[in-house]
Amino acid sequence: VINPQERNPREPISYKVYPACLIIVSPVGQIVDMIAQSDIVDFQEKERERCDEAVTVILSSDEFLMPGFIDTHTHAPQFPNLGIGQEYQLLDWLKDVTYPMEANFADPDFAERTYRSVVRRIIDFGTTTCCYYGTVHLDATKRLVDIVRDSGQRAFIGKCNMDREVPEDNLEPSANDSIQATEQLIDYIQNLTQASDSLLIHPIITPRFAISCTPELLRGLSDLAEAYNPTLHIQTHISENLDEVARMGELFPGNTSYADVYDSFGLLGRKTILAHAVHLGDDEIDIIAKKEAGISHCPTSNFNLTSGVAPVGKYLDAGIKIGLGTDVSGGFNPSILNAIRHASIASKVISLQHNPSDPLKPGYNNRKLSVATLLYLATLGGAQVCGLEDDIGSFALGKSFDALMVKVSSEAGNPGLYPGGKEDVDKYLRGMLERFLFCGDDRNISRVYVQGKLIGGNDCIE
Ligand code: GUN
Ligand code: FE
Repeated sequence: VINPQERNPREPISYKVYPACLIIVSPVGQIVDMIAQSDIVDFQEKERERCDEAVTVILSSDEFLMPGFIDTHTHAPQFPNLGIGQEYQLLDWLKDVTYPMEANFADPDFAERTYRSVVRRIIDFGTTTCCYYGTVHLDATKRLVDIVRDSGQRAFIGKCNMDREVPEDNLEPSANDSIQATEQLIDYIQNLTQASDSLLIHPIITPRFAISCTPELLRGLSDLAEAYNPTLHIQTHISENLDEVARMGELFPGNTSYADVYDSFGLLGRKTILAHAVHLGDDEIDIIAKKEAGISHCPTSNFNLTSGVAPVGKYLDAGIKIGLGTDVSGGFNPSILNAIRHASIASKVISLQHNPSDPLKPGYNNRKLSVATLLYLATLGGAQVCGLEDDIGSFALGKSFDALMVKVSSEAGNPGLYPGGKEDVDKYLRGMLERFLFCGDDRNISRVYVQGKLIGGNDCIE
């Protein structure tokens, strides 16, 4: 059982492993009991009896269970472009590669075909909660909602808002049209989730980025978020690329920074997810921390589009909530495992740039991220960014059982349990996790559970 501790800014992030653990999940998918042992034990008769009437899953020695991955930023309509456009930077990439693909989603049937395989793929990569951007199209985005609902995945789904600076085919006719369509999508999602008695899909307001939205639209979306009780989530991009930041400055001459644009329109709050955050100034870090907005770190995309390296350690020190995002197709891989690896490399690039003669202050800034921190970003950190930390992101009593069953074995065969004796159990299990995080893939993910329900994984593929 991988159990990242609830985060305390004064302590390094850590996690626990248990060589034996019994997790009891209720019919509605909640963890109702956890009996964790720090040694290899056989569970007692009375504990076994509790499982008599339940579906029982017993793991073998080369398997472990961990919390599901949370992807805090991806674009479902960009999957057909995966791996295309390596030589671009952001603004030309949007114009030449991305907007033309997204225009195809005016056809809801094209959207349906595409989204079916997209959602299946994301689940089988172990993403139990996903923050999706759709396109500007209401009907296509409703299809995405239907497909995600049928799949059993937990998700945030938003329709992009764009009423300027994008090609004709992607442009919404007016701020008002954009706001109305957004409201229709929110109502559609809320009616669906109420009808099915399940709260797995959340609407999220999605002003794509400051450049693509007029002040009138940003204001209207902020009012819309507040009109709902509780206030709705918001997702957008921030300070990804220097040319983008410069264009934002031209379009919003009265604002002091990118974060100030969002803040001045009331779009910065505890339910806001800000993707990228590569080039933030210290004043922006302060305001994001103060408003308790979260950051989605998208290292694959930041490398791929040569956007820069986000100083994640600095944000952790500032107490900002951070999770990982794949940002397909700016990022060329839909798996959070890949985001973990690039988050590790990004932090190593920063640590290499750090002048070794400057003593490191306590904290995360300028340091390599530990395996525990990477695991945290991929799970509990993402849950905090989504405002769902009381429900998902780790294994704890009362939380939902969103989990991955992972199978690892070496080419040389299973090296055998605990080669160095019992005292090595902890080290062995941590090694299993690290090996999965750094060289595993979807073939190692045998089962994917959301809210106690088996929704995918390698075992489900015929
Ligand atoms: N900024 C605005 N739109 C996008 C997008 O689709 N991908 C990325 N990476 N950045 C953006
Ligand atoms: Fe993005």
